[in-house]
Amino acid sequence: MTTAIIGTGGIGSVIARQLASGGETLRLSSADYESARTLAAQIGHAAVVAAGNRDALQGAGAVVLALRFTVLKGVIDQIADPLAGKLVVVPSNPLSTGAHGNLTPLLPEGQSSGQVVAGWLPAGARLAMAFGTMSADLFESAANRSPEPAVLFYATDDDRAGEEVERLIRTAGFEPVKAGGLEQSGRLEVGGDLHDLVAGPAQARSVTGGA
Ligand SMILES: NC(=O)c1ccc[n+]([C@@H]2O[C@H](COP(=O)([O-])OP(=O)(O)OC[C@H]3O[C@@H](n4cnc5c(N)ncnc54)[C@H](OP(=O)(O)O)[C@@H]3O)[C@@H](O)[C@H]2O)c1
Repeated sequence: MTTAIIGTGGIGSVIARQLASGGETLRLSSADYESARTLAAQIGHAAVVAAGNRDALQGAGAVVLALRFTVLKGVIDQIADPLAGKLVVVPSNPLSTGAHGNLTPLLPEGQSSGQVVAGWLPAGARLAMAFGTMSADLFESAANRSPEPAVLFYATDDDRAGEEVERLIRTAGFEPVKAGGLEQSGRLEVGGDLHDLVAGPAQARSVTGGA
């Protein structure tokens, strides 16, 4: 199946590599065409470079918006029409990074980024907050763990999005576990109790209470 990845930076490039190694076909785009082209060349035949963000969605059933939170709304507005009918996966943390790496929250305490992003999407787009629960290095090293796979948590309000993101999570080499609805997205983020937690399925279900 085909997934678009918009943003080929720190986390987008790792998500792309893991999905491609699990057999997914990818359409890549980034603000910098050369960054997407280089990543596609590294991945090989499973990835193609799109002409732009809208073009990346052509023929894709899902899109991963691997973007900083500050640019997410602008990109969603740019590609809004073709997002209807697709799974939209967002790994972004609602943080801005200062010149010295200092992190500043972009949302008031207690506000769920998942619910904010849901409000930016057009009707018919199915949102799952996922693939941002681990730092890029940890995500890469924890993938395809054996004998017991590591869990990747996700949050969604939409059952069909849940089924679709679970397929992508398995394709990337993890066992999916739902943390809860979009109001729970803060648990997945930097500072959340599930962030950077490398757990097997039994431990994961015990901390989510089988959500
Ligand atoms: N890196 C991690 O370990 C990690 C882990 C979990 C979650 N996250 C979260 O994921 C989000 C992205 O983080 P990151 O580290 O991947 O950031 P990043 O390295 O800055 O990558 C962001 C990517 O988005 C692209 N981009 C910017 N504006 C765009 C536009 N209008 N259209 C298309 N592409 C655009 C950038 O292209 P240019 O480079 O050309 O500007 C870059 O490829 C953040 O919210 C972060 O908190 C990151």
